Parts: sequence; structure tokens; C-alpha cells
Amino acid sequence: MGKIANITILTGAGISAESGIKTFRDAGGLWEGHAVEEVASPEGFARNPDIVYEFYNLRRGHLADPNIQPNEAHKAIAKLQENPKYNVTLITQNVDNLHERGGSQDVWHMHGELMKMRCLFSHKVHDSFPTYDASTPCPCCQRTNSLRPHIVWFGEMPFLLDEAFALLSKTDLFMSIGTSGLVYPAAQFVAMTPETCRKIEFNLAGTPVSHHFDEKKEGPATMTVPTFVNELLAL
Ligand code: OAD
Repeated sequence: MGKIANITILTGAGISAESGIKTFRDAGGLWEGHAVEEVASPEGFARNPDIVYEFYNLRRGHLADPNIQPNEAHKAIAKLQENPKYNVTLITQNVDNLHERGGSQDVWHMHGELMKMRCLFSHKVHDSFPTYDASTPCPCCQRTNSLRPHIVWFGEMPFLLDEAFALLSKTDLFMSIGTSGLVYPAAQFVAMTPETCRKIEFNLAGTPVSHHFDEKKEGPATMTVPTFVNELLAL
């Protein structure tokens, strides 16, 4: 194995599961009783914005519950990022803020952020109000009917993709944590790393992309991630 300098970490819903946030597939394709297309697509928003506003207001409320806290896996990643030996980039598909609250400074949210909202006219991104709807005036243009969640919905382009592709081609160690490997383009990130890159999948079980990885750490992320991070820090 060559020297590890650049580490890329991709996280998914599994890393936040032990903090009390439901994963997508585990909810049986329904999010809090809603079909995914209803609450997570531009068409759903155009059809019935009230349901969409309400859905994200509830999810924001859930994230603010004092019982929802970053776990040992989030904290271990932050500890790794602080170590000057490695250049660590954290890309998450999660829209929660548990990586930040766990101590990570720079988090690439490729699917957006629950705690941000966007103006439909200026496209400016703002810190989200705890709750808002179509009648809430936008902080930048003061118009109503102008705010939407800063979330990547089905059919929309994830954020930071070009940057991610450039980074993956220079990665020495790729860690994929708690993601089902079902949603592209994140699922193909592992295949975009160089042949020399060490690739490790952290999950409770195998995934459709497991065969791309050299190693598998099976088990809850709060156990496997801190153990591996400590190994890296001891190198
Ligand atoms: P999924 O719900 O598809 O998958 C969660 C993965 O985490 C599964 O493979 C579980 O086996 C694993 N898992 C669950 N608990 C775990 C634990 N404690 N430790 C380790 N692994 C665990 O979530 P994602 O892969 O994140 O997109 O889903 C990807 C995208 O699909 C989401 O970002 C979302 C959704 O459509 C958008 O919203 C655009």
C-alpha cells in the first residue's frame, strides 16, 4: 500500500441512523407517510407546495430535537479531518447538520441542507427559518411564494459534482460510510478513484456496489468508523 495523503469520505443516511434519523430505504420508500415524488421532486412542489413545506418543517423540527445528536462516527471523522497528516474531504448525501455539529468544518453537502432555504428568484441561499411556507416573505426580495428548501430533489443535479470528480481522481483512500449504493452519481464515486486507491465500505450489510471495494467493515458505523480512524491516526 502506498502512502496515504488524500482521503475522500462519502457518507449516507446510515451514519446518522444511530443518532435517530431514519434512513431512506428503511422507511419502505415512504418518508413519514409520503411518497417520495410527492415531497422530493420539483413536480411534487409545483403540484402541492403546502405538503412539501410542511414535510421539511417537520424534518427540521425533528433535527432540532435535543435527543438527536452527532454520534461517535461523526466525531471520529471530525477528529481525522483535524489531523494535519491527512488531507480529508468529506462529501455527504445527508441533508442533516450532524457532521458540522460533530466538529467537521468543511462538509460538501451534495444533496443540499435541511437548515438552508433558497430564493426561487435570485437563487440566493439563506439560513432556513425553523418553519416557513408560501406566505413567508423571502429575506432577500421580500416576496411571498419565493422560498424553497435548499435540497436536491429527484430529477435535479447534485451540488459540487465537478469538484467531487476532480477530487476522486487524486484520492489515496476512499471511505464509503452508511450508503446503500443505489443512488447515482454518488454510487459510482468508488469506481472513479484510481486503481491504486484503497477503498473501504462501512455498512451493516453488502450493497450493490460492494464488489468495487477492497475491504468491507461490517457493523454499525459508531463502532467501525472510530476503530478505523484510530488505526489511521496511529500509522
Ligand atoms: P439509504 O437509506 O439508501 O441507505 C442507508 C444505508 O446505510 C444502507 O445501506 C444501510 O445498510 C446502511 N446503514 C443503516 N444503518 C447503519 C449503521 N448504523 N451503520 C452503518 N451502516 C448503516 O441512504 P443513502 O444511501 O444515504 O437522496 O441514500 C442515498 C440518497 O437516496 C439520499 O441522499 C437521498 C435518497 O434518495 C436525495 O434526497 C437526493
